[in-house]
Amino acid sequence: MKERILVTGGAGFIGSNFCNLNKDKFAIVALDNLFLGDPDNLDPEIKFIKGDACRLEDLQRCGDAFDYVLHFAGTSSAPMFMDDGFVDGYTNSVKSFCQTLEFARKIKAKKFLYASTSSLYANNPMPLVETQQVTPPNHYSVTKCLYEDCARCYNQVYPEIETVGFRFMSVYGPNEEAKGRYANMISQFVWDIARDLPPVIFGDGDQFRDFTNVKDVVQGLTRAIETDKKLGSEVFNIGTGKTCSFNEILREINEAMGKNVEPVYIPNPVKEGYVRGQHADITKISEILGYIPTVDLKTGISDQVRNLKKEKIKETSSDLIRDKI
Ligand SMILES: NC(=O)c1ccc[n+]([C@@H]2O[C@H](COP(=O)([O-])OP(=O)(O)OC[C@H]3O[C@@H](n4cnc5c(N)ncnc54)[C@H](O)[C@@H]3O)[C@@H](O)[C@H]2O)c1
Repeated sequence: MKERILVTGGAGFIGSNFCNLNKDKFAIVALDNLFLGDPDNLDPEIKFIKGDACRLEDLQRCGDAFDYVLHFAGTSSAPMFMDDGFVDGYTNSVKSFCQTLEFARKIKAKKFLYASTSSLYANNPMPLVETQQVTPPNHYSVTKCLYEDCARCYNQVYPEIETVGFRFMSVYGPNEEAKGRYANMISQFVWDIARDLPPVIFGDGDQFRDFTNVKDVVQGLTRAIETDKKLGSEVFNIGTGKTCSFNEILREINEAMGKNVEPVYIPNPVKEGYVRGQHADITKISEILGYIPTVDLKTGISDQVRNLKKEKIKETSSDLIRDKI
């Protein structure tokens, strides 16, 4: 019999890719309140339940026999915590995490896997490694630090459930349309260029990220589920160990789309804490879980262009700025 997995935030970007890529291996239930996700992201074979991970009764509606619980629900990017998003951002992220973790233990799941973030490294020296001291630079990453500390304490008190965290780098891939202006820059640049609109770049475009295809994120998570090794409350980076600048990304996208759309450069309006570079050390996940990045950027971008759903494009962050410059 297939092992059973509950995925909160399962209709979202990373959650839906996990479900779709693992549908033959596991029996999966996806829970999502559709704050951002889209049930169309999910293969029809995946059981989808509309509900809120903050609410115990909604988790219980998913069933009580899961071997693993994956928590991707929560407020998924830093700008969502700004202005009026502050109280709801913390409440949603922290409550859904605690509720799902406690649910996972009570139904006797073996592992609880959750999404942390590489954002908590801020501008630490590169390559970014899990042993570095971190000072979260924004409310979003504060919630993820809290997840990590909570998961560690929880596993000490209840060692019967492993609580494993993942600091994803800059993840791109299919099913990001519902995120609109919160999506990865690769997706947003593709959406701008598809409409022949110039992407707006803060600064000179030399800022760089460890762009990681969502298939490799799913690979890392799946390896953590399948390993016989005891993971306790370990936290792993998931990245590629390689970097690429925004300018290079734009060149690749233009080439893949057969276009030549020039960006607009504006002085960086983010005065403090802007992350100039991101470069992961992936030694830990490679050595412990055997993870090896498999999707190079050229292939990932070509896939993204080939699978473009033009009718689903929402407002990008460049759309919002372009009108004001
Ligand atoms: N995409 C990235 O590059 C990246 C990088 C680092 C960390 N992460 C983290 O990974 C996780 C998944 O990110 P994503 O990019 O797929 O974001 P996403 O917004 O597409 O996915 C989150 C999903 O959770 C749902 N959701 C939110 N609150 C919920 C609740 N209370 N109950 C049920 N569903 C709820 C949303 O509707 C959405 O579908 C998030 O925790 C995010 O912070 C993402």
